Amino acid sequence: MLDAADALASGVDRFTTRPALPPERLDSLGREILALKKRLNAVILAHNYQVPEIQDVADYVGDSLGLSQQAAKTSADVIVFCGVHFMAETAKILNPGKIVVLPDRDAGCSLEESCPAEKLAALQKTNPKFYTIAYINCSAAVKAISDVICTSGNAVKIVQAAPKDRDLLFVPDENLGSWVMEQTGRPMTLWKGNCYVHVEWTHSVITRIRQEYPDAPLVAHPECTKAVRMLADEVCSTEKMVTWCKTSTSPAIIIATEAGMLHRLQKECPDKTFIAAPTENCRCNECRFMKMNTLEKLHDCMANLAPRVELDPETIRRARLPIERMLEISQRPLENAG
Ligand code: 13P
Ligand code: SF4
Repeated sequence: MLDAADALASGVDRFTTRPALPPERLDSLGREILALKKRLNAVILAHNYQVPEIQDVADYVGDSLGLSQQAAKTSADVIVFCGVHFMAETAKILNPGKIVVLPDRDAGCSLEESCPAEKLAALQKTNPKFYTIAYINCSAAVKAISDVICTSGNAVKIVQAAPKDRDLLFVPDENLGSWVMEQTGRPMTLWKGNCYVHVEWTHSVITRIRQEYPDAPLVAHPECTKAVRMLADEVCSTEKMVTWCKTSTSPAIIIATEAGMLHRLQKECPDKTFIAAPTENCRCNECRFMKMNTLEKLHDCMANLAPRVELDPETIRRARLPIERMLEISQRPLENAG
């Protein structure tokens, strides 16, 4: 069995597989959702940024990698995906024969928006040696023209495994891309996209919060800018944040990622205090797309089996290959990743 440090290094223990809260601790809507889940033989997958009441009825709460791993192996008939659209799309690509529903079909992502497939295809034509690594925060159409997919949890491993004789093109997050270049030493052409939430943290605001809590380490998501990442004690995916915070001896930790993460962290580490890194002027640490999902909409999407994710078979066929490549590389032991 892996200890926590091994798990952190390997990224294996990256997913919470806990049952939903017991019915007596849920309100009537929550109990109805559990009843629907049983009737439909459904699984509820939720991202770490979902509102607490959704996290509390989910079967699985995790990061993008853990969620796609769960989607790849589920035996449920219906996948209820509480996250943003590209995440539900990934579940559909891995399960073309299953019904995949999501609470709000307009839950998009600024990174996905920044990278239309036609523009990417035009850039790819400028260099036949490009090997395209697409961050999972992109559309199915972009996945379909990429060589391999990555998440923030496995991006370093995926880039290390990329063919040495190709020119790497990393889309669509320039901040994750630049962090991976720093970690791997591999040059890459970076698409100029970013997460509108994570770029809200600035060097000055993070410096101020660090001065206020001088003993608290800072954990930041790699979608943050370099100016913020350089102030962090740890830069990692949302799931690795849980593992890192569990093993940390500090009683208080500053977190620079979307605010939903604090619910998960507080549940997993009840004895620690988590400080949400403030943004300059606004409550910008909440992703408006992730927050479109509510418990009511979750109930309704299960009751109506809509909205559903639908994709044409050719897009599914082509997008599946780079996702499966990612899942396979993720399972390799660290030393054989190259
Ligand atoms: P994780 O895969 O680290 O959970 O990140 C997903 C995301 O959308 C970050 O903004
Ligand atoms: Fe996209 Fe940023 Fe929202 Fe994550 S937090 S879903 S990257 S907009």
